[in-house]
Amino acid sequence: MSVLSGKKVLLGVTAGIAAYKTAFLVRILVKKGAEVRVVMTPSAKDFVTPLTLSTLSKNEVLSTFTSEEDENAQWNNHVELGLWADLFIIAPATANSLSKMAQGTSDNLLIATYLSAKSPVYFAPAMDLDMYKHPSTVETFEKLQSYGNILIPAAHGELASGLVGEGRMAEPEAIVDFVEKDLASKLPLRNKKVLITAGPTYEAIDPVRFLGNHSSGKMGYAIAEAAAGMGASVILVSGPTSLHAEDPNIQLVHVRSAAEMYEAVHKEFKQCDIAILSAAVADYRPAIIADQKIKKHEGTLTIQLEKTQDILASLGAMKKDQILVGFALETENELENAKSKLQKKNLDLIVLNSLNDPGAGFGGDTNKVTFITSNNKVIPFEVKSKAAVADDLLQYIINELHV
Ligand code: CTP
Repeated sequence: MSVLSGKKVLLGVTAGIAAYKTAFLVRILVKKGAEVRVVMTPSAKDFVTPLTLSTLSKNEVLSTFTSEEDENAQWNNHVELGLWADLFIIAPATANSLSKMAQGTSDNLLIATYLSAKSPVYFAPAMDLDMYKHPSTVETFEKLQSYGNILIPAAHGELASGLVGEGRMAEPEAIVDFVEKDLASKLPLRNKKVLITAGPTYEAIDPVRFLGNHSSGKMGYAIAEAAAGMGASVILVSGPTSLHAEDPNIQLVHVRSAAEMYEAVHKEFKQCDIAILSAAVADYRPAIIADQKIKKHEGTLTIQLEKTQDILASLGAMKKDQILVGFALETENELENAKSKLQKKNLDLIVLNSLNDPGAGFGGDTNKVTFITSNNKVIPFEVKSKAAVADDLLQYIINELHV
């Protein structure tokens, strides 16, 4: 999956002949799974039509502060556009627009949006070879780079003037490739291996029956997706669920019982940097699994249970420099119970969810959690989607536990 998948990409088109290539650029970005909006300078419309770009991006293309046709039209909010974007690519970027960006000359919607943008800004210059080498242009590039903007170098080749040299806008494929590589190199969990457990375990009673629980696996799968999105290589050891892991950076290992989960986790733990155990592992299993289906008889049936191994505690006992995170699902004395689990199992962090909180627990798409750290910090959160909880958890591990 591309790092651009799900990203909000704002494309800024300025008035160079290479603007005709932005139709391909929009198409590639959309194919990569990005949501694309386009802002153009008014004269860029001489080189490519807004209709082409709005059709390909499936979004309205903006080029002026208000609509030209409708005098009662709404103001096109450059601040909203600038804040919407996860990244802003300005391509083609002409010498004129680049100079305005460097000086803060906000005389059109594109430059005003640039000045409001909080996201990373990439610019792909397109100009004639002498313009490209002019000291003024070189100074502009340096100034923009000093603002943190990222130069996508122009290519060498035949230019619109007929001259041959440097100054051609990088090809759309090369622009996308450049941006993908740059984004990937900055992902916070790149080169990290993360082990996650999710879902319930099923403990067999006989060939057709088992002891299980209501865990859906959604929390663990959300953590796996979030970690993969942050560049980690993820091993997701999952009990039986109906969920699928979409990201190719997630290696899914299916297990059924606590014993199988124990095996799978221990096979991977030593090579991991972070282990997050969110599975609802059965604490007990039938001491004897009947070979044949148990027939019903008069009276009651007693099944003897024996303890399963505590996977999390076994990792806590052997961990070296890994970060180990557990979950605690409690119904009473929540904080004390969670704190005692954190200590007993030698964890760096425990995520407490209380079944008493509305919006928390099994099955749903939301969760309400409290983080408790090994130095007894207690950090409560509001009800959030499980995806947002996963983000909070990984951000906390990255920023506070310094993985
Ligand atoms: N866990 C585990 N292996 C087990 C049981 C639990 O790895 N056999 C992990 C869970 O994945 C979770 C944490 O331990 O991260 C807490 O699980 P929980 O069942 O709440 O705690 P227990 O220690 O089993 O205590 P109790 O059931 O008595 O609350």
